Parts: sequence; structure tokens; C-alpha cells
Amino acid sequence: MSADNQPTLSDASDGTPPASQSTLPKTGNGLSRRRLLIGSCFAGLASSAALGFNIRIFEPSNFEITRKEIGHCFRSGIRRGMTFLHLSDFHCSREVPMPMIEKAVAMALEHPADAAFLTGDFITWKIDDPERYRQVLGMISSRMPTYACLGNHDGGGWAINHGGYSTNQAVRDFLESCEINVLVNEWREIFIHDQPIHLIGLGDLWAKDHRPETVMPRIHESGETPFEKPVLVLSHNPDMKIAMHEFDWDLMLSGHTHGGQLVVPFTGHRPFIPVYDTSHPEGLKKWHNRRWIHITRGVGNRHSVRFNCRPEISFLST
Ligand SMILES: [Fe+2]
Repeated sequence: MSADNQPTLSDASDGTPPASQSTLPKTGNGLSRRRLLIGSCFAGLASSAALGFNIRIFEPSNFEITRKEIGHCFRSGIRRGMTFLHLSDFHCSREVPMPMIEKAVAMALEHPADAAFLTGDFITWKIDDPERYRQVLGMISSRMPTYACLGNHDGGGWAINHGGYSTNQAVRDFLESCEINVLVNEWREIFIHDQPIHLIGLGDLWAKDHRPETVMPRIHESGETPFEKPVLVLSHNPDMKIAMHEFDWDLMLSGHTHGGQLVVPFTGHRPFIPVYDTSHPEGLKKWHNRRWIHITRGVGNRHSVRFNCRPEISFLST
């Protein structure tokens, strides 16, 4: 015993360390390791759950309102101060339930616009709840003139092989019952605040229903363009531009890409984007010969997933 009667390491009678020296540190490290392991497991599970919640629940309904200037996209100039609402790819289905679409439409209608352009894929397979869907889409058409083209999911040559309608007639009839003007390989001269616009709606590319040559004049060999007024095209699939190369148009509004739905952070890679030209997955971009294309990421989705790629409500202003 030391002078102050406090035990020391040298008090061990057999020269071995006291129990506290040989076991406590081991026990302490073991507990730390176990706690660390358990904590890591819980953190991993929590992170996975949070990521899953974000991808499947939060982000698919976390609509982003975007605004872009399109006045410069028209060769002949266009009246300033107009705003167009561009929505696409509602994909009404079990994957995109009606309350999600109602939320998007309600958000869109909180902001003024002069016309609405809807660029296809109104459904994924079939029209499930037509009365309620009619009320939702009717909210848009009762507020402003509304025009639509159809997408690959809306019936026809592609949809029939993917659980959808054999023709686009059912969706067309449904949209017309919503007071929406449907243009499939058709054109119409519309007036917005006295501004004439030559509006063309094309049939879908994947449905092999596109006939641009029947509704679009070709650019003259001299380079002269037949139209003097602004030419706006509605085409679900932006790859349609390849088939429209020799025709006369200013701005094409498209959807279909969904922005890729999953965008790898930092790299921007979009592994699932369903288009031939992956260089333009979303947004407004100039194409050959002063033509422009706007692709909206869409309201709905496929397979109930979005990551780093929010659904979009687009406003385009002149
Ligand atoms: Fe789509």
C-alpha cells in the first residue's frame, strides 16, 4: 500500500494486472464496436428509407414551376407579353394517382397564362376514372384555350403492345369531352391577343402516326420560308425533329423524356432517357436552322420514381 493508502498497480500480489486492467478495456472496446456496428446499421437503414421515401413519394409530387423566355424563338417576331402553359406526360394511372395530377393542375392555375399546350401521354394504359379526370383537365380548358397532341401511351401502334388502346380514338374523344382541342397531323390558325400563330399538332413518332408532310410546308430550296407568321409545333417525342428537318417551323413543344426521371448527381448522367438524341433531355435549346425545341420534364412518371429530376410545370413567355 502506498503512503496515502490508495491502491496502485504494484499492489497486485501475484504480479498480474488487476482484473480491471485486463478486462475492462476489452469490454469497453467491444461495446464501442458493437454500438458502432448497430449504429451504422440503423443509419444505413434510415438513409435507405429516406432515399426510398424521396424517390418514390416526395420527389414525384414535388412539382417545380419553371419560366423561360421564348420571344426570340420566332423568325418573324411575336407579340410580347404572352405566357403559355406547357404541361406534358400526366400518365394518369396507379403510378400517378389523380390527387397528384390535381395538385399539379391547381399549382399551374395559380399563375396567369394565355393558352395551354399539352404534349401527350395523358394516360399510361387506360382511362381509369374519366369523370374525375375530366374535371381536372376541364379546369385548364375552362380557364384558357387549350391544345393537345397525343403521345405513345395514348393509343395506337406502340400502346397496343404495352397494355394500352389499339387506336388513339378513346383518348382523343375523352380530351375533346374536356373541351381540349386535339391536333393529330392537323393545323389550326389560332389568335392569342390578336397575335396569329400557325399551330401544328403531330401524331406520335413511336406510334408511327406522324405525318408532318401532310401539314407542314417544306422550306424552299432558296432557303426562303413559306410562313410569315410564327409556327408552333406540338409533338410528344422530341426526336420528331429529325423527321421535320426539311419543314418550316419555329418552335416545337415536347415531353416524353420525363427529364430521364433519374439523374446521377454531379455527373448529370441520365441512364433511362428514352430518346435517340440524348444531348437535349429537357429545357429550351436551339436546333438546326434557327429552330428551337422546348422539352418539359412532365407532370407524371413511369414506375413511381424520380430522383434529382423533379416533375415540371412550365411557363413560356414571349
Ligand atoms: Fe411519357
